[in-house]
Amino acid sequence: MTTKAPWSDGRLCYGGDWNPEQWPPQVWREDVALMRAAGINLVTVGVFAWSRLEPEPGRHTLDWLDRVLDLLHAAGIRAALSTPTASPPPWFSLRHPDALPVTADGVRLTHGSRDTYCAAAPAYRDAARSIAGVLAARYAHHPALALWHVHNEYGTTCHCPHAEAAFRRWLTGRYGDLDALNDAWVTSFWSQHYTDWAQVGAPRATQYLANPGQLLDFRRFWSDTLLSAYTEQRDLLRAANPAVPVTTNYVLGDWVPVDHARWAREVDLIAIDHYPSTADLGAEEQTAFAADLARGWARHGAGRPAPWLLAESAPNQIHTAGRMHTKEPGRMTRHSLAHVARGSAGVMFFQWRAPAGGAERFHSAVVSHAGADTRVFREAAALGAALGRLAGTAPGRVEAGVAIAYDAASGWALRHPGMPRAGLDHPGEAAAAHRALWHAGVTADVVPPGAPLDGARLLVLPALYLASDATIDWVRRHVDAGGHLLVTWLSGVADEHARIRLGGYPGAYRDLLGVRVEEFHPLADDEEVPLTGGGTGRIWSETVHLAGAETVSVYAGGAPAGRPAITRHRVGDAYAWYVSTRPDDDTYRRLLTEAARLAGVTPTCPDAPPGVEAVRRHDTDGSLLHLLNHTDRPQRVPVAGFELLTGATVDGVLTVAPGGVAVVREEPS
Ligand code: GAL
Repeated sequence: MTTKAPWSDGRLCYGGDWNPEQWPPQVWREDVALMRAAGINLVTVGVFAWSRLEPEPGRHTLDWLDRVLDLLHAAGIRAALSTPTASPPPWFSLRHPDALPVTADGVRLTHGSRDTYCAAAPAYRDAARSIAGVLAARYAHHPALALWHVHNEYGTTCHCPHAEAAFRRWLTGRYGDLDALNDAWVTSFWSQHYTDWAQVGAPRATQYLANPGQLLDFRRFWSDTLLSAYTEQRDLLRAANPAVPVTTNYVLGDWVPVDHARWAREVDLIAIDHYPSTADLGAEEQTAFAADLARGWARHGAGRPAPWLLAESAPNQIHTAGRMHTKEPGRMTRHSLAHVARGSAGVMFFQWRAPAGGAERFHSAVVSHAGADTRVFREAAALGAALGRLAGTAPGRVEAGVAIAYDAASGWALRHPGMPRAGLDHPGEAAAAHRALWHAGVTADVVPPGAPLDGARLLVLPALYLASDATIDWVRRHVDAGGHLLVTWLSGVADEHARIRLGGYPGAYRDLLGVRVEEFHPLADDEEVPLTGGGTGRIWSETVHLAGAETVSVYAGGAPAGRPAITRHRVGDAYAWYVSTRPDDDTYRRLLTEAARLAGVTPTCPDAPPGVEAVRRHDTDGSLLHLLNHTDRPQRVPVAGFELLTGATVDGVLTVAPGGVAVVREEPS
């Protein structure tokens, strides 16, 4: 028997995390009936159920899961069955204290939350493989099984002796000998020269600044360690039934020691969890960025386009530091359909039913503590119906003329405390460029360095600090092929080991950009420098010398007063821009709009009113225009075609309801 993933039969996935282990069987039946009423077709089960599946070492209690999967199957709902390895049971930690994680400060953590294990500890890896193997043997051919969901949000780190020994093995593989490692880490500085592998440790707490190369490699090593914990489970799940796709859900955040781009080739679909961290319009900006990031990993990761899926999102509240904010009616739907517009194979929530206790008892759920007679449940059911009307439309190809480079390692390297300024943030700069384009109505791809730039006329490098020779070559090939380039401050300053590329910044791209940067002048958090032509620069400023480029705007104050702030260099018929500060949002939007325009890239829907997000996707039937009205007023958008959510024909102008969404199958022009 082969299983078909929901996205392969044209339906969009719709569902979320379901935790029947927290409830008696009568609630399971009620849940399944409610799921059917809400149009749910896929649920993630078993994520944190290890102690219910293996209450004692080697004793497995699977009957309840048999019943759960049978119940789902009878209801026509498929399962993304999880391996529960993100939360080892208490007996495991007591039995294997050496598998508890150690912080950089040398503190060994104790059981009591989740994710409390060291992914390099042999006992943990054995136990994880064992429980995954038990599930594979029992369920690999269960008719409800649509997808294996390995673990949950790989991302915890460890500095214990197991991790340290594995780090040395990884370094031996990477460098071969100590000379190469000493060279890469510039250990001639501060007397760090190593003469024996035994001297090389994990970057634990130390007296003052740690070695940047060591920190960066430890992050890379840990990403690979977590990846191997994933792939060994994947392999045994796949072996049990090769027809069932396998994935793990990515957690996004600058603390995550995972290079998700490198993981992309190891999963059958990219699955991301997305929770905006702000309740203002920033939530919509973050949603668009996360979706484009996921699409970039899916499209470029494996050298073959893979599907991607929003695997978790909040049915109601946005959690910001300090409090939870209610999503206004319609906002959950807009966030969900923004992901679908940008290519997601569906919408999944965390969580289906709110738990009666436990650490996340107040996290939002489709079925809340108040039950299902709620605004949130009704909106979820309406979304289920809407997704049903979009069946057959996903994912297609999202139209984007700009590509923004995104590189986990550059983000890690910029966080080293010895940088010229605290708070340097490559992911934040990538998001800022994306936000500027989002406000300009221009759709962007977000891609790992080295990815094919099919269709992108403008490539943006946002504080892309690290530049390997391969990355430089990738950028150069884009420009040689007539592509435009926009490079921001701190890009290409260092090589892949975080060693500075000498001779004037940005060493990697000086020639392409026709500039040479002599000095940095980092700004204070509340400091701005005026730019000629209006606008201000923030965070950073520099002394820039022209070496072939022309000046676009000049610092009208601050340390580099009178010197170029933004330049552009004619390369063939294209421009290579250099932006030596972070322009304020409005200036950045205008600058990127102009750079895109000169590259031949225009907004997706030039006449859409401000506050209406427009994304166009092409599939085999033509093009689909998604319109998301983030304002509280009706908005009129010029478009002709057939609106899929209402079934209405659109003659030339569509009015999108306040806070509403429309998906128009466009008339061929
Ligand atoms: C996710 C996690 C879920 C839940 C959720 C709360 O990151 O996978 O288990 O904790 O956050 O927002």
